[in-house]
Amino acid sequence: MEKKVAVIGYGSIGKEIIAATEKGEIPNAKIVALFDKEARVIHSLDNDDIEFHLFTNFDEFYNSPIYSDLDVIIECASKDAVRDYGKKIIESRKDVIILSVGAFSDKQYLTELQNLSNLNKTRILIPTGAIAGLDSIRSVKKYLDSLTITTTKHPKSLVGAPYFKSSKIKLDEISEKTVLYEGNAITAIEYFPANVNVAVSIALAGIGLEKTQVRIIADPMISVNKHEILGKGSFGEILIIVQNIPSPANPRTSYLASLSAIECLRSLCNENFRIGT
Ligand SMILES: NC(=O)c1ccc[n+]([C@@H]2O[C@H](COP(=O)([O-])OP(=O)(O)OC[C@H]3O[C@@H](n4cnc5c(N)ncnc54)[C@H](O)[C@@H]3O)[C@@H](O)[C@H]2O)c1
Repeated sequence: MEKKVAVIGYGSIGKEIIAATEKGEIPNAKIVALFDKEARVIHSLDNDDIEFHLFTNFDEFYNSPIYSDLDVIIECASKDAVRDYGKKIIESRKDVIILSVGAFSDKQYLTELQNLSNLNKTRILIPTGAIAGLDSIRSVKKYLDSLTITTTKHPKSLVGAPYFKSSKIKLDEISEKTVLYEGNAITAIEYFPANVNVAVSIALAGIGLEKTQVRIIADPMISVNKHEILGKGSFGEILIIVQNIPSPANPRTSYLASLSAIECLRSLCNENFRIGT
């Protein structure tokens, strides 16, 4: 049966999800609503020949008849969006796909959402996003002794990160490969909220936020967003290297993140066959 889908956030990921759905690339999914808090973003669509409803205010979206008919909501907006709307979405018994997984570095909030989703019989789905291998890390989590992720990006992909407010390192002065941060996943996402969602995903799949080590490197010579994940334990070793093309619309985001969100929606809407754990 066709699922009615709403997207929150019409940025680089939201645009790709909507485009794929409109092209019929996701069988059994129909976009019926888009909510973005920026009026200019929504107005950019006003003249287009679109068949879904547009909202710039969450309460209007939430209280609309369109909302009550929804099956799935895809959040591809921001950590704040997850914090501000997450509970209401789950209480209204919608399945939700979350891209801004950095919001779950707050363990208490994640537990609250998980309890709510059990109570309301909904699903919270986190796509693998800009990396690979979350399934394998999840499978070996009991046998992991260490888990590290090293993310290397061009300085322009790190523009706007709160890290630079307190650091002596100035982004526009980086002329060679520079290690910016080494520490756990909780602090990594505070310093780089738009860049290391993947560190939180891998930590949640594996040995948790405190024990997962994160390195963030700025490299003016690199043209890809590179993630290297190393998990070691009694099961053996997993080494994953992903080199992503940055999204042309948003260099902080890798194109793979959009493709992964699209694939997650495709699985949710066509559940009779799934490859991968
Ligand atoms: N899980 C992953 O692997 C992964 C990878 C890349 C990006 N992300 C995250 O996914 C999210 C979307 O990425 P993007 O590149 O499309 O971002 P983007 O900046 O290109 O677009 C985000 C859009 O969401 C809107 N928005 C932001 N906060 C909102 C709110 N509170 N309510 C309604 N609308 C809001 C903005 O106006 C903007 O139009 C970001 O949080 C990003 O950090 C996750």
